Amino acid sequence: MEEARGRVTKDGIRIYEAADFDGMQAAGHCAARILDEVAALVEPGVTTGTLDDFIRNRVTELGATSATIGYRGYKHASCISVNHVVCHGIPGDKVLKDGDILNIDVTVILDGWFGDTSRMYVAGNLSRKAERLIQVTHDALMIGIEQVRPGNTFGDIGFAIQQYVEGHRMGVVRDFCGHGLGRVFHAPPNVLHYGRKGSGPMLEEGMFFTIEPMVNLGRPETKVLADDWTAVTRDKSLSAQFEHSVGVTSDGCEIFTLSPANRFHPTWG
Ligand code: MF3
Ligand code: CO
Ligand code: CO
Repeated sequence: MEEARGRVTKDGIRIYEAADFDGMQAAGHCAARILDEVAALVEPGVTTGTLDDFIRNRVTELGATSATIGYRGYKHASCISVNHVVCHGIPGDKVLKDGDILNIDVTVILDGWFGDTSRMYVAGNLSRKAERLIQVTHDALMIGIEQVRPGNTFGDIGFAIQQYVEGHRMGVVRDFCGHGLGRVFHAPPNVLHYGRKGSGPMLEEGMFFTIEPMVNLGRPETKVLADDWTAVTRDKSLSAQFEHSVGVTSDGCEIFTLSPANRFHPTWG
């Protein structure tokens, strides 16, 4: 009865124990390693389905299972969101072309712990406007993570991200958010990427959650396509996203999904 351990706050947020950080670190490392490895396959001419096949095989080979296969009827080991797709892009026959930007999002379960991370890739040459979008989105995630410490609130995270993104005249998506995770995929709280300083639940040591801002070059509004998964920008503008899973420590946080090869950003490594 793993879930009987620890406690839950009045906001329904589970407080994990010190030993639980090791399980999250292992799961996060596994997901991040797969995102490192898939980078070598991203190039013009490859299909998103081929990338997903590789990811599905690596999840198994590393002794993990995919959290997304079978989740609410989803059938794939990753979400691959190209250009104006905001999130939940379904891998398939789509062929990448030069200059496409894509987010690949992988969630694994290792020894019962969930590791959830996503990052941006480019097929071929990166345009200046896409590079700017990717840099702002990456920096927005890291600025949000800087707010993670006991005594701050979830609103402090959202406020910092929104200020930064809007300061660059880009749109921060409201329709999707980060989430608690741990022994489960999606748990309280909703981690908003916008908000007011001091609002929302207080952060406490032992909380595990994702931060995963989606940023649009245009307006923040999205719509979901008829496949019931694919979310796109309403104005067809380019969109980017980065995601880390983190745990609150006594004086800050531990990022569980750091890139083992230091390849989190497409222009690194
Ligand atoms: N990994 C996504 C997240 O960050 C969720 C994907 S659910 C799926 O929460 F079913 F679309 F894969
Ligand atoms: Co997530
Ligand atoms: Co994810």
